[in-house]
Amino acid sequence: MNVRYYDVIVLGAGAAGMMCAFEAGRRGRRVLLLDHGERVGRKILISGGGRCNFTNLHTRAENFLSANPHFAKSALARFTPADMIALVEKHGIRYHEKTLGQLFCDDSAQRIVTLLERECGEAGVETRCGVKVIKARQKNAAEAAPKFIVETSAGDFAAESVVIATGGLSIPKMGATSFGYELAQQFGHTLIEPRAALAPLVFAPEDRERWCDLSGVSFEVVARAEAKGKTRTKVAPEFREKLLITHRGVSGPAVLQVSSYWKPGEPVRFDLAPGREVLGSLLEKNARRDAANLVAALRAILPSRMAERWATTQPTLDWTNAGIARMEAALHAWTLVPAGTEGFAKAEVTAGGIDTAELDARTMESRRVPGLYFIGEVVDVTGWLGGYNFQWAWASAVSAGQAV
Ligand code: FDA
Repeated sequence: MNVRYYDVIVLGAGAAGMMCAFEAGRRGRRVLLLDHGERVGRKILISGGGRCNFTNLHTRAENFLSANPHFAKSALARFTPADMIALVEKHGIRYHEKTLGQLFCDDSAQRIVTLLERECGEAGVETRCGVKVIKARQKNAAEAAPKFIVETSAGDFAAESVVIATGGLSIPKMGATSFGYELAQQFGHTLIEPRAALAPLVFAPEDRERWCDLSGVSFEVVARAEAKGKTRTKVAPEFREKLLITHRGVSGPAVLQVSSYWKPGEPVRFDLAPGREVLGSLLEKNARRDAANLVAALRAILPSRMAERWATTQPTLDWTNAGIARMEAALHAWTLVPAGTEGFAKAEVTAGGIDTAELDARTMESRRVPGLYFIGEVVDVTGWLGGYNFQWAWASAVSAGQAV
């Protein structure tokens, strides 16, 4: 069968794959970009509620989870949020900051996909969708260059460099597969166990019974995943954002953030009144210390239905000063042990992935197999909610695109 030759083959035409393809193409490399889906950038289209939160102004290595917290620094410094903004502005895309440094398109995520398609076109990238990758292999020493053969449903392709940009396991109906992980293992790479991250949490049965009829109720909290015992060397960060009660558990930005740090069997803790004393009015001279007044005080910080439910779920209503202090403390430490997350079907990203210890942080090249690169979500670098994951996809892609 006829083998077609390229300098670079990029597997996966998502955020990272497209960015890497045109960065390499601009340098005069002959690039083939392959995806098994019918179109490019499908996850970008559904991202950010259809408006794509394409970067975060405050991106730092601290906003990412990885077995090596320093790994992302080099790539993040090479392609910054300012570089992404410059690219977005070059294409005349209007955007706005929603909150906490999160930049969204004013109209549609399609704009970002069009940007990437245009850049790929201008850089001479050959893009093929609907192509099933069967296998990628290294040629043996006796075979002529180039190094890699990629066998696909559209025939065999050969290249000096292969870039794996096939993403994580989240949202299988958007084309997610374990291909990148399997290929990495085939080439001798270590995998940090992939797990659902930025995912809603599911209540244990008794909590579900107690809270889930309040589905749709939302309020601000400070949330944190707590380590059981003192085994964790580092305390997980806190997130001050909204919590949403769902028909199975809790979601909303605060919960998605802590889900990435949560480990099965461990508790999560929510401060329902961050930085506020709520029940002080009950301690005032002549104040009526009763359930009606408790609910009135709770309504200052919680939606009515949650305030009423919270009051009824307190173990015993003890109206002494010490009892009120205990109720105040309970409000700042609502502690739950979730039964699990909603899993990959609902998770925005996959934490874990290709172990960064075996990758060059400046180029994303495999230390085991020269010419093989891993970028984007398939790598063990996972961002917080808020545009960080795309910024990692762009930055890791540019690093590889400049090296292949
Ligand atoms: P991505 O998943 O984008 O692309 C991988 C590509 O590889 C896909 O096109 C897939 O079809 C292809 N592929 C997989 N297996 C293959 C195979 N065997 N053969 C060929 N092709 C294969 N992040 C953020 O920063 N801001 C946001 O607003 C959002 N919003 C958001 C919403 C939702 C609902 C989800 C699920 C996720 C987000 N994210 C996000 C996360 C973000 O979408 C994600 O981190 C990036 O898309 C990762 O980019 P990659 O290019 O690494 O993978």
